[in-house]
Amino acid sequence: MDYDVKDLELAQKGKDRIEWARQSMPVLGLIRDRFEAEKPLSGLRIAACLHVTTETANLAVTLRDGGAEVRVCASNPLSTQDDVAAALVREYGIPAFAIKGEDNQTYYKHIVSTLAHRPHVTMDDGADLVTMVLTERKDLIPEIIGGTEETTTGVIRLRSMARDGVLAYPVISVNDADTKHMFDNRYGTGQSTIDGVLRATNVLMAGMRVVVSGYGWCGRGVAVRAKGLGADVIVTEVNPVRALEALMDGYRVMPMQQAASIGQLFITVTGNKSIIRREHFQSMQNGAILANSGHFNVEIDIPALESMSTGRRRVREFVDEYALADGRKIFILGEGRLINLACAEGHPASVMDMSFANQALSVEHLSRNHKQLQKQVYPVPAEIDREVARLKLKAMNTEIDTLTAEQKSYLSSWSEGT
Ligand code: ADE
Repeated sequence: MDYDVKDLELAQKGKDRIEWARQSMPVLGLIRDRFEAEKPLSGLRIAACLHVTTETANLAVTLRDGGAEVRVCASNPLSTQDDVAAALVREYGIPAFAIKGEDNQTYYKHIVSTLAHRPHVTMDDGADLVTMVLTERKDLIPEIIGGTEETTTGVIRLRSMARDGVLAYPVISVNDADTKHMFDNRYGTGQSTIDGVLRATNVLMAGMRVVVSGYGWCGRGVAVRAKGLGADVIVTEVNPVRALEALMDGYRVMPMQQAASIGQLFITVTGNKSIIRREHFQSMQNGAILANSGHFNVEIDIPALESMSTGRRRVREFVDEYALADGRKIFILGEGRLINLACAEGHPASVMDMSFANQALSVEHLSRNHKQLQKQVYPVPAEIDREVARLKLKAMNTEIDTLTAEQKSYLSSWSEGT
C-alpha cells in the first residue's frame, strides 16, 4: 500500500485513541452500522484532505465500511496526529499521507498522493484539495462527481471559485449545516482553542486581558470560554452587527490598535489576513502572547514581526519568543497555525460526531444525486441536518416535545390574531 507517515510503530497507540474517540461519536457510529449493512458508497473513490485526528480516522473508517476506497492527507502541516496516521495505514488499511510538522513542499506532495487513485469525491477542510484539482490536476475533473467542504475558510474560497466560474463540480458546504457551525465552530473551537493555549503555555486565564479577534461562531465560542475561566475579554470586529452582539454579550469592543496596548493574550479567529500586524506589534506590552485559531497562518503577520525582531528562540514546545530592539518580548504559539490542532488535539470527538455525520451523509447524498447537481456550492440538505440533531439528542438521552394538531394548524393559518 502507498502511504507516507512518520512511524508505523505508533499504530497501536493510534488505534487505542481512535477507539476512545469512537465512544463519543454515537451518531457517526449509527451511520457506520447502516453503511456496513447497505454499502451505499460501493465503488466510490474518496480523497480526503482533513486534519488527521482520531475523529477523522473514525470518519474514514465509516466511509470505508460504506464501500468507499478512501485515501487521506492532512489539511494543515501541523495538525496531524502521527499515531493516527500510522493506525490508518497499519490497522485500518487506509492509505494516509501526513506527518506532523511537514514542510509546505511535503504538504502539497501529500495532496498529490491522495489524488493518485483518481477520486470520484473530494473531501476538503480549507479547499486545498479542490484547488489542486482545479489548477494542476484538471485531468481528474471528468471522473469527479462532487466534493464536500468542512470549514468556513474553505466555503469562502469555494464561493469565490463559483463566482469566477472555475468551480468544476458540485460541492456541499458541510460547514453551513446548523448541526455543524453552531456546535463545532462554537463549542468545539471555543474549548479546543483554550485547550491549545493552556497546553502550550500553562498560563492562568483568570484575570488575564484576552483579546479575541472576530466574533463569528468561532469567536463567540472562544470569548465565552475565556470569560468562563475568569478572563477580561475584549473583542475586535469589523462587522457592526457582530460587534454590537459582542458588546451586549458583555465584552469590551474596540479597534485592534487600541486593544494591542491593553491585551496580554491575543487570539485571532477571523478567517482573514494580517489581523495583527506591524503597527499593533509596535504598541504591545512586553510578554504579550499571540495565538491564531483561524484556518490559515496568515492572521498574525509573522513575517512583519520577524523583520522587527533582533532574535527568535523557542522557549518551550510550540512557544516562540521574538525579541524586539527596545527589549520587549512577544510570544507566538504554534507558529501562528491553528492553535487547537497544533498545540492540542482539535475539537472533542462528541462535537466532531455531528460534523462528520454531516460529512458521511453528504457523500451518500452526492453519490445518489450528483446527476441533478450543478457546478455550485450546495448546502447540506435540511433533512440531513435535522436527522443529525435528532440522533444526537437521542444519543444524549434527551426527548423533546412535538407539535399538537392544534398547534400545527395555528402555525399554518393567519386568521387568529389579537
Ligand atoms: N477540526 C477541528 N477539530 C478537529 C478534529 N478533532 N478532527 C478533525 N478536524 C477538526
